[in-house]
Amino acid sequence: MRKEVLLETMGLWAGYGGKPVLQGVDLSVRQGEIVAVIGRNGVGKSTLMKSLIGLLPPQQGSVLFEGAEVNGLSAHRRARLGIGYVPQGRDVFPRMSVYENLLVGQSIDGSGDKEAQARIETIYGYFPILEERRNQRAGTLSGGQQQQLAIGRVLMGGPDLILLDEPSEGIQPNIVQDIARIMVELNRDTGITVVFVEQNLDMIRAMAGRCYVMDKGVFTAEIGREALEDRETVRRHLAV
Ligand SMILES: Nc1ncnc2c1ncn2[C@@H]1O[C@H](COP(=O)(O)OP(=O)(O)O)[C@@H](O)[C@H]1O
Ligand SMILES: [Mg+2]
Repeated sequence: MRKEVLLETMGLWAGYGGKPVLQGVDLSVRQGEIVAVIGRNGVGKSTLMKSLIGLLPPQQGSVLFEGAEVNGLSAHRRARLGIGYVPQGRDVFPRMSVYENLLVGQSIDGSGDKEAQARIETIYGYFPILEERRNQRAGTLSGGQQQQLAIGRVLMGGPDLILLDEPSEGIQPNIVQDIARIMVELNRDTGITVVFVEQNLDMIRAMAGRCYVMDKGVFTAEIGREALEDRETVRRHLAV
């Protein structure tokens, strides 16, 4: 039926302590797309990501993954269904090595050790810095390296969809470009679907196939690929 739609929200309301932040979000992402959610600080972007992964229950409306409602499912269950989530601030385990951090992401989908080793090799292929630093404690990595590790850890679970919350935050511009390029390559090679929250103009333009503009808990506009080519259009929407 809606086979090509991978992730969808319908009239989604969510918030904290009974107070709404999201006030009727309708999102629809097809398999293999890279979609950005942009908007100023405090408009509800992270709240949307938490609702998609299941850290925040909906007050109204629904979240659908692969055409099935996942409203009642925990974040862990959603991860096992194939949704990977990298939170804002990334959250790697600082005292564990890069390699150990990757292992933590293993077997969310029930795969075994052999599969895990194969995945680590694949991830090292995309993120060579992780192989170089594999025995180093994650806490000693730069922000950009930690972001790559956080993405790698989520890829260890073999997700069909990856949610990234402000991946560029606190990262120097050349590394931001590297990460954007790698995500586009991953998407092209594996067909993985990506939904990411971002305020960084360069990252949005380098990665997104289209983008939703969020303001005060709702989507106020959608920007297609052609309009994304125009820097000013995106800048204007970020400054709403
Ligand atoms: N854990 C929380 N408890 C209460 N209010 C929160 C919490 N997290 C975020 N908020 C509030 O929800 C609103 C949206 O926040 P958030 O989704 O983090 O915005 P964004 O990611 O777009 O910057 C803000 O007003 C913020 O203060
Ligand atoms: Mg946020």
